[in-house]
Amino acid sequence: MPAADTPAHRIAELRQAIEQHNYRYYVLDDPSIDDAEFDALMRELEALEHAHPELVSPDSPTQRVGAAPSAQFASVTHAVPMLSLGNVFDEEEFREFYARVVGELERETIALAAEPKLDGLAISLRYENGELVRAATRGDGSQGEDVTANVRTIRAVPLRLRGEPPALLEVRGEIFIEKAGFEALNARQAELGQKTFANPRNAAAGSLRQLDSRVTASRPLTMYCYGIGELDGAARPVGQADTLAWLREFGLRVSPESQLLHGCDACVDYFRTMSDRRAGLPYEIDGIVYKVDAVRDQDRLGHVARAPRWAVAWKFPPDERTTRVLAIEVQVGRTGTLTPVARLDPVAVGGVTVTNATLHNADEIRRKDVRVGDTVVVRRAGDVIPEIVRVVTERRPADSVPYDMPDSVPGQDRARRVQEIIHFASRRALDIEGLGQKIVEQLVGEGLVGTPADLFTLEAETLAALGRMGEKSAANLVAAIDRARETTLARFIHALGIPEVGEATAANLARAFGTLEAIMAADAEALERVEDIGPVVAGSIRAWCEDEGNRALVRQLQELGVHWPEEAPPASTEEGGLAGLTCVLTGALSRPRDEVKRELQRLGAKVSSAVSKKTDFVVAGSDAGSKLAKAEALGVPVLDEDALAAVLDEPAAISRWLAEPQRR
Ligand code: IVH
Repeated sequence: MPAADTPAHRIAELRQAIEQHNYRYYVLDDPSIDDAEFDALMRELEALEHAHPELVSPDSPTQRVGAAPSAQFASVTHAVPMLSLGNVFDEEEFREFYARVVGELERETIALAAEPKLDGLAISLRYENGELVRAATRGDGSQGEDVTANVRTIRAVPLRLRGEPPALLEVRGEIFIEKAGFEALNARQAELGQKTFANPRNAAAGSLRQLDSRVTASRPLTMYCYGIGELDGAARPVGQADTLAWLREFGLRVSPESQLLHGCDACVDYFRTMSDRRAGLPYEIDGIVYKVDAVRDQDRLGHVARAPRWAVAWKFPPDERTTRVLAIEVQVGRTGTLTPVARLDPVAVGGVTVTNATLHNADEIRRKDVRVGDTVVVRRAGDVIPEIVRVVTERRPADSVPYDMPDSVPGQDRARRVQEIIHFASRRALDIEGLGQKIVEQLVGEGLVGTPADLFTLEAETLAALGRMGEKSAANLVAAIDRARETTLARFIHALGIPEVGEATAANLARAFGTLEAIMAADAEALERVEDIGPVVAGSIRAWCEDEGNRALVRQLQELGVHWPEEAPPASTEEGGLAGLTCVLTGALSRPRDEVKRELQRLGAKVSSAVSKKTDFVVAGSDAGSKLAKAEALGVPVLDEDALAAVLDEPAAISRWLAEPQRR
């Protein structure tokens, strides 16, 4: 510390005291001074820093006031992806999850860490040598937005970690607003004549995504941490419960409700207890998150698409309300399908006002017999789209008639084209900025655009002449369209809007085949070898690729300059590859199971979870149990990790094991 009696000394003293009080307040939940005393310390520090601006440092508690607005958020790539969670909705589904996990781990019982599922938004905090250097939103899981300036204003987020933090620590957690803070914020908004928020989650999201961090600073945001991303310079704690305790030592706030539970019944009890306590908690929770505690087991279980297989969110039952069906309208989807939508008398369900509910299709309307004028029960769970549960038939008007779903609607083809183009241009597809619904409707309406390919022939003058935008915006849009020519194979496939092929499947296809030509030429069998693709999806892809119109569209897009970098070509799946072979991984491997799985798949192997007569080989790590026993009983060849390494290195080597099943 600087010499006593100097401003620098007092400043250092004040900062330390303020950080300590913050820590006691937010992390230990045990403040030793009241708000007025705290404010007095802050004011003294502010005054000193004001008088000695050269002594202001970025990690000073006074620096949480926010800074002038920035133009936009920079994009951040998450080296460790930010996953989401699979959901279960009742005890039976939860027990199935538990049974699957213990089964795959070949264990009788396991420990799970349970935590409230906070209803806010996920954040990743990057601390380098203990200093907060970056905060990023989850975004699509691999890319988020840099919201550092905003997060720095949140007092529950330490600007500097306590103790001896590692060289690099990325902390994952949830930013949210407590119920009381939400009420106060809405009251203030209303007073100022500004828009109020539908629920704490929207308020938190809206507050965090402010370009002016001074606005964020005025919002009552707080945070709980629940995990780790990148880490360097320290050993990773071996379990989830240890992780939370470890984070807390660095002054990070973790939920005091989290508990380590042994066995399935304890998890069910915890859920019941928390359901009872939910209304009395100071913040909104929408379920309980259960995580397999041991990191070693987490690695064995791996993840699918965007969700870990070692964790699940058990959601609280959805909120249900009754309202009236004002009308039933038919919407046209991007593949031309007609979807009936009920227009409802607005009603608040699960924290948002619901005005529409999808009725899915003609069968669904018939099954539920929903009619215009009916009183219906509407349900909404978390971020799921609202749905009509049932009709309250006792309250049906005497003159009501069954709804007759039309086979077609006026302007259907046009509406389909509009949807197709909007999808093509959407953020997760070709990402054409500025091409919104209205402009697409106009372009299709005027006959200027009929297919996605036509977008690439548009000229700025034509756009400006539509009268909707000025010359500058027209030029910007043409530039955005031009930029979209450079894309990735995964985005391109997603953009095509092949029925049943969403973002994750498109990415899997790109990874597995490497080129568009290979995908277009693949037969159903080859398609089904790709992760998450079954007969239905494979059939849909085949049908789409065989359609001459679709093939022409793809050709045209490429001729108009749409291109992507080549993906790493998949290893030969002919000679020497593992094509046509099915294998099972069991036991603890020295590397994450996902990684091994992907390498095997790249070589053409299908990785299955159960051993059967059809299994060609099993890879067994240490502590392998019942699956290994089954493989041995069936005479299925078993490879240890050394053998696996040899095969990954030189796939042809597999023939040695297949020829001599007994050899290990
Ligand atoms: S863990 C690896 N834990 O729920 C698993 N998520 O549906 C990643 N959430 O994006 C998430 N509370 O925003 C986890 N205790 C908790 C959580 C939590 C809330 C949110 C988070 C995540 C979403 C997934």
